[in-house]
Amino acid sequence: MPRSRKILVTSALPYANGPIHLGHLVEYIQTDIWVRFQRMRNHECYYVCADDAHGTPIMLRAQQEGITPEALIQQFSIEHQADFADFSISFDNYYSTHSPENCALSEAIYLANQAKGHITTRVIKQAYDPIKRIFLPDRFIRGTCPRCAAPDQYGDSCEICGATYSPTDLKEAVSVLSGMPPVERESVHYFFKLSHFESLLRSWTGEDGHLQHEMANKLNEWFETGLQDWDISRDAPYFGFPIPDTTDKYFYVWLDAPIGYLASFKNLCERKGLDFDAFMTPESTAELYHFIGKDILYFHALFWPAMLHSAGFRLPTAIFAHGFLTVNGQKMSKSRGTFIKARTYLDHLNPEYLRYYFATKLSSGIEDLDLNFEDFMARVNADLVGKIVNIASRCAGFINKHFSNQLSNRLINEDLFTEFAIANDRLAQAYENREFGYAMREIMALADKANRYIDNHKPWVVIKNPERGQEVQEICTLGLNLFRQLILYLKPVLPMTAKKTESFLNCKPLTWVDAHVPLLNHAIHHFEPLLVRVEKAKINTMLEDSKEHLKKNENFPQSSTFLAANPIAETIQFEDFAKLDLRVAKILKAEAIEGAEKLLRLELEIGGETRQVFAGIKAAYAPENLVGRLTVMIANLAPRKMRFGVSEGMVLAAGSGGKEIYLLNPDEGAQAGMRVK
Ligand code: 2FM
Ligand code: ZN
Repeated sequence: MPRSRKILVTSALPYANGPIHLGHLVEYIQTDIWVRFQRMRNHECYYVCADDAHGTPIMLRAQQEGITPEALIQQFSIEHQADFADFSISFDNYYSTHSPENCALSEAIYLANQAKGHITTRVIKQAYDPIKRIFLPDRFIRGTCPRCAAPDQYGDSCEICGATYSPTDLKEAVSVLSGMPPVERESVHYFFKLSHFESLLRSWTGEDGHLQHEMANKLNEWFETGLQDWDISRDAPYFGFPIPDTTDKYFYVWLDAPIGYLASFKNLCERKGLDFDAFMTPESTAELYHFIGKDILYFHALFWPAMLHSAGFRLPTAIFAHGFLTVNGQKMSKSRGTFIKARTYLDHLNPEYLRYYFATKLSSGIEDLDLNFEDFMARVNADLVGKIVNIASRCAGFINKHFSNQLSNRLINEDLFTEFAIANDRLAQAYENREFGYAMREIMALADKANRYIDNHKPWVVIKNPERGQEVQEICTLGLNLFRQLILYLKPVLPMTAKKTESFLNCKPLTWVDAHVPLLNHAIHHFEPLLVRVEKAKINTMLEDSKEHLKKNENFPQSSTFLAANPIAETIQFEDFAKLDLRVAKILKAEAIEGAEKLLRLELEIGGETRQVFAGIKAAYAPENLVGRLTVMIANLAPRKMRFGVSEGMVLAAGSGGKEIYLLNPDEGAQAGMRVK
């Protein structure tokens, strides 16, 4: 047994503005299996994570929902933690990047880098939304692809032809927030001089073991193209940590996100009395591993080691990248119902099925992995139910019924038990090297042997002979011992099933070395089925449910989905349009109405005339925030008598209703009463 290692492990931090989905779970399940394996080996292993809580999308989503960013990230934190707990992801700490520890560490790491001359400033031009008064991240700009002319593409890349470009190259670009063309605006930004670290990074990435070889090759390409300065600042308004000695600059979310790993660990250390420095100083003998998706390698293998180094911390032992999830051979798709949220899966299927299925597909490489539902069903039913659980259900009944739950006091076939026991090292090596698919195949080959043993010794036949009772007890005792070894080997993957097995076998939590020690002369409990078969109908209902969720606007901004949900209406003639008299209106008064759940009463000024309008916007706006602003109304709509009074027109708003209502807002310079044409 190697001496106990100190190991700190992280998974990438999910953004605090969207649900956990099966794509995310590849990584959390992969990491959790590895961590659980290390703990079973008796190592001191900590697994920390957090919500990635900063950035423009989170700030805007909170605005859209009419709540503070703090309230929004709190809601997502609760939701994420419930999803992870239900998939048995065994974090030692789940924290947030919006934490005092992270603020202090981010400032310290930034200041250390600044003091050593690794931070510089310069003025850059960026897209700016003049209506919303905010600099626009590329994803908030949409327009026509400059290469293939596909409409409605993001500001940084085209989903149709794969071109990458800068937002200024996009044709007919508009801001997703206001629908207006962005303008260019200058501002001072802070940059991290990555090139200062070229020799450190070249030697670190070149040393064996820190990176998978595919990833090391990718890094070589980046070295060849030259290491660029990294823009680490964003202008107000922004949800993040202010940069020291500035008034309106914030750390870019990607600066404080990886630091969030350390902040989460620091918080754990403070709560549990652990020694943070024992893991994080350059002299530390502890190991540090980051599990990530292959798309975020640049941040983890370049910026992160560079910043850590100059701030006086140790570097990661290794970065383990994995591929993406495809479903039925294709990218996850909302319209096909294959964009499956963790919660939707949990509503229909046992999480251990997915943990096992992913384990069968995972290796140390970076290839994408496919979730094929036919295969998923076949694997779970054939392997887990048909092979593993079957061993226990074939043997337990005899022990329960004929031998008062008592296992025999010897192994009838020691060689078979030993064969299972010596697989221990081979399987440990596979887990250690993240070759989970290989480990699952080996375990299932052993399960086939156990089933063959029972087939050959037929306890259901032998039991008919009253003189051979002891033999049945011994056959079934061996069967249950083999089952116990298999569950032990599967325990990192199937923690819940292992727990149920431990209570059925009436034994202490299984650790890796227990594979060598048989359970003999021991009373077990009554056998209950440990896992049931996957039903096709449940998979289908889950896929249907996933399509349902698409109808809700959960992934702002996704302007392309709006058209699909609300196709353009029938064509009208200009004369039809000209009949509408649209006017800029100033909201003089806005008030809630007693007894009206959805309506606000507005008094609108349209150039010397005041109108009363009842508008269904109460869920989206506090009345006091409306007073004084301009909007647009239909001024020649016939008055309508309502329960609370006469409505003399309508205000124009976008959105699907409820909180999702956006009153139109004329550009600066418009005045009440102007005709809108
Ligand atoms: O790509 C993402 O989803 C990021 N939120 C991952 C951050 S990982 C780490 F750097 F914090
Ligand atoms: Zn294109």
